[in-house]
Amino acid sequence: MYLSTASNDTLTSAARQAALKATYPVELLASFAPRLIAWQRVHGRHDLPWQNTRDAYRIWLSEIMLQQTQVSTVIPYYARFLERFPTVEALASAPVDDVMALWAGLGYYTRARNLYRCAQVVAEQHGGQFPRTVEGLAELPGIGRSTAAAIASFAFGARETILDGNVKRVLARVFGVEGFPGEKRVENGMWTLAESLVPDASATDADVSSYTQGLMDLGATLCTRGKPDCERCPFADDCVAKTTNRQRQLPASRPKKAVPLRQTWMLVLMDGDSVMLEKRPPSGIWGGLWSLPEAADEAALVTRAEGFGADVATVSPLAPLTHTFTHFKLDIEPRVAELAKKRGALVAQEADTAWVPLREIDAYGVPAPVRKLLDGLRGSLI
Ligand code: ADE
Repeated sequence: MYLSTASNDTLTSAARQAALKATYPVELLASFAPRLIAWQRVHGRHDLPWQNTRDAYRIWLSEIMLQQTQVSTVIPYYARFLERFPTVEALASAPVDDVMALWAGLGYYTRARNLYRCAQVVAEQHGGQFPRTVEGLAELPGIGRSTAAAIASFAFGARETILDGNVKRVLARVFGVEGFPGEKRVENGMWTLAESLVPDASATDADVSSYTQGLMDLGATLCTRGKPDCERCPFADDCVAKTTNRQRQLPASRPKKAVPLRQTWMLVLMDGDSVMLEKRPPSGIWGGLWSLPEAADEAALVTRAEGFGADVATVSPLAPLTHTFTHFKLDIEPRVAELAKKRGALVAQEADTAWVPLREIDAYGVPAPVRKLLDGLRGSLI
């Protein structure tokens, strides 16, 4: 179930709420925040180094470091950073090389450059104070919509929603949101859903913090990608994925691109029990291996056989086979060419070709599907 955002984009906020209520169970929409907050207070994480503070600088620093990086990796970097740069002004006035040196090892270095630029903007244009709204925060370098919401909710108690990869997984499962969340239409629907779930106006700043942290904690500790711990989940009884046993299907994976199909004809030119093999060019598929000569259709294949000096009497098909490569499938149409003069009438051998007795194929590097084909042929000749 997802909201069709082709129309959703143009809906008023009231109409959007009505559409949500028509799509998802109303009791679940209404109870989601209080249940998550209650769960977080008992079972969530409370002692991470960036918790138990309202200091926007510390919260911002943690959220930037935690983008694409695990908590356990971030912790020592976070401590070193704060020791060296205890305030946004200290960071803004440090030499950029010092900042990059302390970041080294965390990866995604654009984050560090944006972090430094952001500190300078806050120090120089905002008097050292981070903006208090999602819109103001999201204008700063390196702060996207979800990070802005995390900072605004943790530091200022703003009733704003985050929506990172973990939260998308939680929402897709609990509410049964179909479609790949990386697709704009699906993501927009998730933002609308997530926004509708934030605690209502009666929530305290502490409730808002617990709610945002609860979304993160549920995704990171129970509703994990590979092995969700549904037995301990506060939403197990309502969760669409759990109740329909579709934890592995939700959220949907990135749609697979259609794999292109290529076709080739392969020449099985036999003389007695020997087959003509050809060494493939060093690069490209099966580079440098010995394989059957190929052509783009049957007529071209016969021309190739004649090019080897073969006097072809008959051409008969073998069962086609399909081989799957990473980026395409190859449909192989094998054709056996019978020589007019049998046995002993070996045709000319060119460079990079070899007449190979079928029982000696092992000595040549032959691609797996060709090998299978020749093994079958050998079986039928014995
Ligand atoms: N990932 C992103 N923000 C986080 C936070 N505040 N705590 C734990 N993990 C996070």
